Amino acid sequence: MRLSRFFLPVLKENPSEAQIVSHRLMLRAGMIRQEAAGIYAWLPLGFRVLKKIEQIVREEMDRAGAVELLMPTLQLADLWRESGRYDDYGQEMLRIKDRHEREMLYGPTNEEMITEIVRASVRSYKDLPKILYHIQWKFRDEQRPRFGVMRGREFLMKDAYGFDIDEAGARHSYNKMFVAYLNLFDRMGLKAVPMRADTGPIGGDLSHEFIILAETGESAVFCHKDLVDMPPPGIDLDWDGDLQPLVDQRTRLYAATEEMHDPARFEAEAPEDKRLSARGIEVGHIFYFGEKYSKAMKANATGADGVDRPIQMGSYGVGVSRLLGAIIEASHDDNGIIWPDSVAPFGVGIINMRPGDAAVDAVCADAYAALTQAGREPLLDDTAERAGAKFATMDLIGLPWQLVVGPKGVADGVVELKRRATGERHVVPLTRALEIIGG
Ligand SMILES: Nc1ncnc2c1ncn2[C@@H]1O[C@H](COP(=O)(O)OP(=O)(O)O)[C@@H](O)[C@H]1O
Ligand SMILES: [Mg+2]
Repeated sequence: MRLSRFFLPVLKENPSEAQIVSHRLMLRAGMIRQEAAGIYAWLPLGFRVLKKIEQIVREEMDRAGAVELLMPTLQLADLWRESGRYDDYGQEMLRIKDRHEREMLYGPTNEEMITEIVRASVRSYKDLPKILYHIQWKFRDEQRPRFGVMRGREFLMKDAYGFDIDEAGARHSYNKMFVAYLNLFDRMGLKAVPMRADTGPIGGDLSHEFIILAETGESAVFCHKDLVDMPPPGIDLDWDGDLQPLVDQRTRLYAATEEMHDPARFEAEAPEDKRLSARGIEVGHIFYFGEKYSKAMKANATGADGVDRPIQMGSYGVGVSRLLGAIIEASHDDNGIIWPDSVAPFGVGIINMRPGDAAVDAVCADAYAALTQAGREPLLDDTAERAGAKFATMDLIGLPWQLVVGPKGVADGVVELKRRATGERHVVPLTRALEIIGG
């Protein structure tokens, strides 16, 4: 992409409405624009990152054996009356009427709809297990939308739903999602810690929130320090085999959100120098809730014993749009964002220091062609801005590599390559720079 053709409305000044660094940087880097409280337009730079994150989530869901579909954003109120949640959900639900005065709603989540879909065709244990997911916009009329995409009213979520014939099967589905979550957050450069979370009136021990530690996080969290740097399980797994040891390894140390925190247990289970009290961002939430919806909505399946029972269910959410904020909170400096390679909107920023100079233009064109060919998605700054502004914009938008091409270097047969994360620079011939980038 050429910057002169792209749409990158960067802001020079710090927007006063942004209270946390990720919100500030997303606005300044021209990634999002607020259209109403908690409702954002995704400008091209932000949209590219959103798509990258979505794709990583998709790949790891698929790897774990989940199957993608797409459910609508609008749902019938009657569906929610079946589960009893239409009246319970309260003011967070956006309720709408169509031209026939039929009551509808903009989905805040999809348990009811997926249960309706599955009950229409699943009859027996032979049709199970299944994990179905979609990546779709949600609407929750939050009382206090804030921090940009972190707590929006309209936001993108990956929500998966597991269906099993019995509790042992449901636990295996839960474990699959638990493991997949650790892998997918790791691929985005994030250290997510699974923490025991409130299961509400259903009880049981099967609910975990995946938390990114950050001072600006909305939740107070408490955990054993060793959990923070524990490596992810890795993708080379027998997904149908026993995943329990991998889960146990990561749940045996103390980790709990505020609602579940038990100070006495914390002290008993973690030595003082290992006790971490911090704040965190909830980027994922997994939940086994058994028969809650299947019983109310009569989604049954016949077991191998010939007995008809409500299907065992769980739900598994990832805050796809929230993740942009979480990644920026975890990875930035005073000059701007520092994208991990895996989610960067472009892989390399090429800065043409003198557009119109034939020799400089030619080297930029070579670099652009080679990087495009190698799938590194370059962004070429071919604008007439002054050098200082070009450097500032490139640092602000945080592409992993910067390739500076100027007349003096070109005369000497070299370019300057900078790694955004470390500031490390190499003044080398273009071919060498491309090797270092790994194109
Ligand atoms: N208002 C919101 N804005 C952005 N992301 C959200 C919002 N609410 C929830 N999410 C994301 O969706 C995931 C699943 O949501 P869920 O656990 O059902 O929500 P909650 O924790 O608010 O009850 C959360 O872990 C979070 O990452
Ligand atoms: Mg939650």
